[in-house]
Amino acid sequence: MAPARPRSSFVCRECGGTTPKWAGQCPGCGAWNSLEEAVAAPASGRGQYGGEPTVKRLPEIQAESETRIGTGTGELDRVLGGGLVRGGVVLLGGDPGIGKSTLLLETVAGLARDGGALYVSGEESLEQVRLRAERIGVAEAGLQLLAETAVEPVLAAAERIQPSVLVVDSIQTLHCEAVGSAPGSVVQVRESSARLVRFAKQTGTVLFLVGHVTKDGQIAGPRVLEHMVDTVLYFESDSGSRHRLLRAVKNRFGAANELGVFAMLDHGLKEVKNPSAIFLTRHETPVPGSGVMVTREGTRPLLVEIQALVAESPASQPRRVAVGVDGNRLAMLLAVLHRHGGVATGGDDVFINAVGGVQISETASDLPILLSVLSSLRDQPIPHDWVMFGEVGLAGEIRPVPNGSERLAEAAKHGFRYALIPAKNQPPASQCPSSLTLITADRLAEAIDALR
Ligand code: TYD
Ligand code: MG
Repeated sequence: MAPARPRSSFVCRECGGTTPKWAGQCPGCGAWNSLEEAVAAPASGRGQYGGEPTVKRLPEIQAESETRIGTGTGELDRVLGGGLVRGGVVLLGGDPGIGKSTLLLETVAGLARDGGALYVSGEESLEQVRLRAERIGVAEAGLQLLAETAVEPVLAAAERIQPSVLVVDSIQTLHCEAVGSAPGSVVQVRESSARLVRFAKQTGTVLFLVGHVTKDGQIAGPRVLEHMVDTVLYFESDSGSRHRLLRAVKNRFGAANELGVFAMLDHGLKEVKNPSAIFLTRHETPVPGSGVMVTREGTRPLLVEIQALVAESPASQPRRVAVGVDGNRLAMLLAVLHRHGGVATGGDDVFINAVGGVQISETASDLPILLSVLSSLRDQPIPHDWVMFGEVGLAGEIRPVPNGSERLAEAAKHGFRYALIPAKNQPPASQCPSSLTLITADRLAEAIDALR
């Protein structure tokens, strides 16, 4: 009898789901052309656990409180939720050339002094890494380097050196010799990551994985990669800007959506300690169509300028373009402005931009968006010492947003004098910064009147 062919199945690059048969579209997530063949590894027999599994009661379990290892960079520590955790695995994604390798080289060089750090480069030669290290001034930090693209030697080296931090740059260049697929394929990425993660958890090593992103900004490789790690960080920037935003999109050890701000200089990435300043353009004289809001990214309040341009549309279908804020929300807000504010923009093109390349994903930007639109439409500047925030509902009501007092404190710190806020966000007088005059509104119409 002929030996049974090894069973193969197909994994989806997008969702990580498997199917026994190839198809043009993944039956799991509906993505097209995303299935890759994966030869199933020989099943490891059952019963390998040996003996009864031990079930414990929660109170019996002793857990040491996690100690944080500071990275030496305040902004990175902030995004990580207070520093690195032993055995923690961090996935760092971002466009090519944005500074992933630079950030990690700087960070681990700082950590190399205590406990050893191993930087595995699968993309660049050791000479290239050395040149970059010289450029950012960490060449003498005693960092250990390895240029390697196979997982097995990486793990062997890590077992020998026992570094406290291991960096793999990047996970897409790594392959497992035991797995037959090409480097960068889902199966390889998944298997290589799984082995590295297992190593990190068993030895308490901090593991950084660099992940490439695809055209549409996802970390290449299956979604399962994001599930395997403890923390997922994304590096973003506004094109052409030297500022870089590092965002935690998932963090088992801290707040998600936490934001760190860096600037790419000639000699490496430097943290920006007072980031509100870069999202504000202080105009000499107030200009129409610009309003300042206080948003919150993770646990940090941030001042961001929202710009609007409203212009009569030459087209029969006017354009609504939103950069840095949600486009559907913009359409909804314009409808509310029409219905409850009596201001029609039906025949106009409306452009909205959050300055500095920041993405605002909270509803506190509703009121600033509408008032900037109004300001542009009427050619009336909003006074430059005004700041605002608030959610606008479909019934034209202005709803409170979380952490109002903190936002007000940030505005006061930057010298704003007037704050237009939801009535329900009004803090007790004792908690309100004395330099701020509050103007509260319950309805959109009141907010519009306040600006006259
Ligand atoms: P890099 O860290 O290689 O990006 P990634 O690993 O995300 O692909 O960053 C490379 C870019 O950063 C490159 O365009 C040059 C620039 N750069 C500086 O401007 N200053 C520096 O000190 C360094 C090291 C790089
Ligand atoms: Mg790189």
